[in-house]
Amino acid sequence: MLNIGIDIGGTKIAGGVVSADGTIVDRIRVDTPTDTDALADAVADMVRHFRDSHDVTAVGVAAAGFLDRTRSIMRHAPNIDWVDHPLRAELESRVGVAVVLENDANAAGWAEYRFGAGRGSANMVMLTLGTGVGGAVVIDGQLLIGGRGAAGELGHVRFERGGRLCGCGLHGCLEQYASGRALQREAVAIADDPELGSGLAQVRDERGSIPGDAISRLILADDPGAVEALRRVATALGESAGGFQATLDPEIFVIGGGVAQLGETLLAPVRAAYRAALPGGENAAPADFAIATLGNDAGLIGVADLAGGR
Ligand code: BGC
Ligand code: NA
Ligand code: ZN
Repeated sequence: MLNIGIDIGGTKIAGGVVSADGTIVDRIRVDTPTDTDALADAVADMVRHFRDSHDVTAVGVAAAGFLDRTRSIMRHAPNIDWVDHPLRAELESRVGVAVVLENDANAAGWAEYRFGAGRGSANMVMLTLGTGVGGAVVIDGQLLIGGRGAAGELGHVRFERGGRLCGCGLHGCLEQYASGRALQREAVAIADDPELGSGLAQVRDERGSIPGDAISRLILADDPGAVEALRRVATALGESAGGFQATLDPEIFVIGGGVAQLGETLLAPVRAAYRAALPGGENAAPADFAIATLGNDAGLIGVADLAGGR
């Protein structure tokens, strides 16, 4: 059985034809149009293209944002101009077949649970660190959707009272402290520090920002400023994971997104902050932390699997 999975990201739309064991047998990537009509057309073109050359059973589409419980309406989204947008109907009218919609991080988490780092667990929390912080919660083998469809929006849990403004309209959301973008923001701030900032200051671009890969290189080279930026992000993530442990009690946390390429260098300070925030202190049984294994393919694999009726 083959299913189509399409992951609408902020910059790229990644599509693939996925077999029942999570293998991608065909794939395409295109730039994400900013116009919502053009975006729907691009997704429809991809579906048509795949259906012309493969015998496909189901179509799944993942995107960032708050979906309603019926997985039909995108209620609001951080990067794309959708407000109470009937995304499922819009796509189905273009492609002429049923489309299964899912939140991007839920789809990625589902893929990690089924085929990646979360395999073998029954209770898993995934956090994706990219432009935003995405969350996915699997409890007793089921993806948690919630009463109004927005369970697992873990990036919008408050980390700091009266903190930084978030794209969702609140202040102090975890997303503003633990995303890939937050790591860049911390690095830019530290670059001005006379004691810690010299390494980071050298990799600032013309606009004053610092690319994520430059920060990663400095972290791996033990640059004190870059390591401090990572410590801040890892602390926010670990402390929040302690709270997620108290509410969701996963056996494993899977961490994905660009920042997760740092591997153990990221996980070590995350674990330390998590343990310090774990209810029960010394007596608590900690969950495992693992880096996601499916990389940028997780979203499309997961939504194809969900569409196929798993
Ligand atoms: C959005 C989520 C999304 C995450 C990762 C957050 O800002 O609210 O829906 O999963 O970013 O893209
Ligand atoms: Na989610
Ligand atoms: Zn928020």
